Amino acid sequence: MGNPAAVKIFDTTLRDGEQSPGATLTNAEKLQVAEQLGRLNVDIIEAGFPAASPGDLLAVKDIASLVRNVAVAALARANKDDIDAAWEAVRGAEQPIIHVFLATSDIHLEHTLSLSREEALASVRAMVTYARRLCPHVEFSAEDATRSDRDYLCRIFETAIQAGASTVNVPDTVGYTLPHEYEALFRMLRERVPGIDTVTMSAHCHDDLGMATANTLAAIKGGARQVEVTVNGLGERAGNTPLEEVVMALRTRPELFGGAATRIDTQQLLATSQLVSQLTSVPVQPNKAIVGSNAFAHEADLHQNGMLKNRMTYEIMTPQSVGWEDMNIVLGKHSGRHGLDARLRKLGYKLDSEQLQAAYGRFVALADQKKLITENDLLYIIESGKETP
Ligand code: KIV
Ligand code: ZN
Repeated sequence: MGNPAAVKIFDTTLRDGEQSPGATLTNAEKLQVAEQLGRLNVDIIEAGFPAASPGDLLAVKDIASLVRNVAVAALARANKDDIDAAWEAVRGAEQPIIHVFLATSDIHLEHTLSLSREEALASVRAMVTYARRLCPHVEFSAEDATRSDRDYLCRIFETAIQAGASTVNVPDTVGYTLPHEYEALFRMLRERVPGIDTVTMSAHCHDDLGMATANTLAAIKGGARQVEVTVNGLGERAGNTPLEEVVMALRTRPELFGGAATRIDTQQLLATSQLVSQLTSVPVQPNKAIVGSNAFAHEADLHQNGMLKNRMTYEIMTPQSVGWEDMNIVLGKHSGRHGLDARLRKLGYKLDSEQLQAAYGRFVALADQKKLITENDLLYIIESGKETP
């Protein structure tokens, strides 16, 4: 089980993230992302779903053999063909993982799988045992765990652990749960499932109600020591838990999590986000936490004034700690003299108070007509001041 304060980052950008509409990557691009995830220092890369296509199998195989110092997982449904394909794909990895999943909610058992609860239980036993004979590390996921009957879920996880799973994952597949419920679910499983203290519990959340980060953090409070996340929260429908948000929440508020921490090199967060966005052509919204272009931007006069005096007024982490060069003083109609002065100084103009007052008048007139004031606008403001008699 390792260090109880360590939270493993299981990145599934290349598997669950790639299931996001239109986010398909070529194998060469997947390798590029995997190499960057290696630099970011994630613990596990879920590289794909090899049974989905020969191309997927090849991509996972390449990542497994070329990216070192990281565990590589491949997803498999609970059947031998999928598990064989997953093993074929990851066997060359330094630390291979076969990730077997089966849905456990009644709605899925009836409508997707046409299995009785007992048949599903038998399948978990047989398929985890089969995977474990091939691979030293097997993760078992109970798909739709948060909508599954609690007693049945306990039996499922007990069976998976007896069959040799070293990680059990509790997915909130449809983004249905709320933080207090999800934390309680982890606590209940820890109390009731025999052997659960010998394995790693994992959280896997989707963002359908905008709860993925909060739920993942709640799971850590409840005892999860692995979190399944994607870069930029890429993923099906509303996406998965964004890696960067969980990592920075743990780093910013360690006291709330008993010091639980990840091994992530946070200065690589921005580069990773930008690479994934560029390769998938899925843009990052400007107000996205940590990696959005406005995440460290300050436009309002009150904020700019505060920031220029003491950055802790409006900054809970430094932009440099996640890979940005510096805070971004944005000039718009809400900005004041402090912000204007700071930006002009950056451009090499030190105005006395009279000149600044005059420049500010020209700035306000222009800012009223434009969304943002650019560097060229600032030069115009300076130059037009020179012309005034
Ligand atoms: O959301 C989900 O349940 C999954 C599983 C395959 C782990 O992605
Ligand atoms: Zn998922």
